[in-house]
Amino acid sequence: MAPRREIFARKRSGETFPIEATIFKIDTSDGPLLTAIIRDLTEANEMQVRLIHAEKMKVLGQMAGGIAHDFNNLLSIIRGNTEIARDHAILPQAIERQLEAINSSCAHGADLIKPLLVFSRKSAPTAQVINLAAILEEVVAVLRRTVGVKIAVTARLNLPHANILADPALIQTVLLNLAFNARDAISDGGEIVFTLKGAPTEKSGPEFIILTVEDTGHGMSENVRARIFEPFYTTKPEGKGTGLGLSMVYSIVTQTGGTIEVKSIVGKGSCFTLCFPASVPQNTPDAAATRPGRKDLGGVRILHVEDNQDLRDICAIHMQQLGAGVFSASNAREALEIVESGAHFDILVTDLHLGDGISGAALALALRQRLQHLGVVVTTGYLDLTHAANLDPDWIMLQKPLSRADLRTGLLTMLNRSASD
Ligand SMILES: Nc1ncnc2c1ncn2[C@@H]1O[C@H](COP(=O)(O)OP(=O)(O)OP(=O)(O)O)[C@@H](O)[C@H]1O
Ligand SMILES: [Mg+2]
Repeated sequence: MAPRREIFARKRSGETFPIEATIFKIDTSDGPLLTAIIRDLTEANEMQVRLIHAEKMKVLGQMAGGIAHDFNNLLSIIRGNTEIARDHAILPQAIERQLEAINSSCAHGADLIKPLLVFSRKSAPTAQVINLAAILEEVVAVLRRTVGVKIAVTARLNLPHANILADPALIQTVLLNLAFNARDAISDGGEIVFTLKGAPTEKSGPEFIILTVEDTGHGMSENVRARIFEPFYTTKPEGKGTGLGLSMVYSIVTQTGGTIEVKSIVGKGSCFTLCFPASVPQNTPDAAATRPGRKDLGGVRILHVEDNQDLRDICAIHMQQLGAGVFSASNAREALEIVESGAHFDILVTDLHLGDGISGAALALALRQRLQHLGVVVTTGYLDLTHAANLDPDWIMLQKPLSRADLRTGLLTMLNRSASD
C-alpha cells in the first residue's frame, strides 16, 4: 500500500480543500490495477484547529485566573493599608485626597480584572439587582464624548423597571464593548441607537429585558459574523483591536443567564440583540449586617487563615479594630494544630486557596467536626464555579480585594445570622 498523503483538491468553483489520498496497487492477470481512496479532510482539520484552540484557551484561562488571584491580593494589601493610614485623625487634606485616590484606583483595578475572571471562568460575579437603563445612560454619555459630531447617538430607554440580576461592572464592560464596536464600524458618519424593551409585557412587569444596539456602519459578511465571538478574532488592523471584546461580552451575557444575537448586512449596519431575564429589586445580602443586632465584634474570637503575610496582618488589624480577638495562621495545618490544642473560636475566616494543599473549604469542614457552632467566612481572589457549587450555603463568601467594610459586613452578617438561628 502506498503511503497516505495530504494534498489539496480543487472544487468546480475553483476553491481548494484538503484531502487524504491512499493509493493501492493490485496485481491482476490483466496487469496492475491502481485504486485510490480519497477522504475530504476539511471537517477533521477544522476539528483539530478547534481542539488546539480550546486547549490554548484553557491554558490562557488558567494563567489569567492565577494572575488575577495574586493581583486581588495585592489590591487588598494596598486598600487595607490606605484604610489604616486614613484612620490617623490629623492627616493634611492633600494627603487625605491622595489616599482617597489610591482607594478608588483599587476599586477600579478590581473592576478591570473582573472581565478577565469571567473570561477564564473563575469569576465570582457579585450579582445584584441593577437597573439596565441607568448603566446604559452612563455608557451613552461616555460614547457621546468619544464619537464626534458625525455620529448621532440615540437612546430609547423608556422602560421604568429595566431590572436584571447581574454584576454592574461586568454589564458596563458588555455595553462599552458593544458601543465602541458600533462606533468603530462607522467610518463616515451615521447613527448608533440603543433601545430597551420589555417582553412579553405582563401586568406584573416584563419577563425579559431586551436591549438592542444598532449601528449604520459597514456591517459584516456572513463569514465574519460567524466568528465574532471567538477569542482573538478581529478584522481591525494590527494594534487596533485585541479581538477579545465580543468573546468577553458573550461569556458575561451567557453567565448572567442572557442570550445574544446578531444581524448584519454588509454596507448597511449591524444589530446586536441582548435578552436578560427580568428581576425585581430584593433585599441585598448585606441586609443582615444592618438589621438590629450586633454592630461590632466585641469579644468575638476569630481564627484567621491566610497564606499571604501582608494581607494576614492587615486583616488582623481591621478585625481587632472592630473589637475581635484574632488568632492568625498561615496555613491549614497550623490552624488545625491550634484548634486541636483546645483553643475555641466563634468564626473561621479563611482564604479558599491556601498554599499547603488543604483548601479553605476542607479546613472549615475539618474544624467544624470539633467546633460545631463555628461560623465560616471564606475569602477568595477568584472563584472556581465548580468549586463554589460544593460550598456550604451557610458560609459567607467575600470577594477580594477586601475592604474593611466588606470584612465588617461579612462578619456581622455571620454573627447576626448565628444569633437568630
Ligand atoms: N458593530 C459591528 N459592526 C461591524 N463589525 C463588527 C461590529 N462589532 C464587531 N464587529 C466585528 O467583530 C470583530 C470582533 O469584535 P471584538 O469586539 O471581539 O474585537 P475587536 O473590536 O476587533 O477588538 P477589541 O474589542 O479588543 O478592541 C471586529 O473586529 C469586527 O470585525
Ligand atoms: Mg471590540
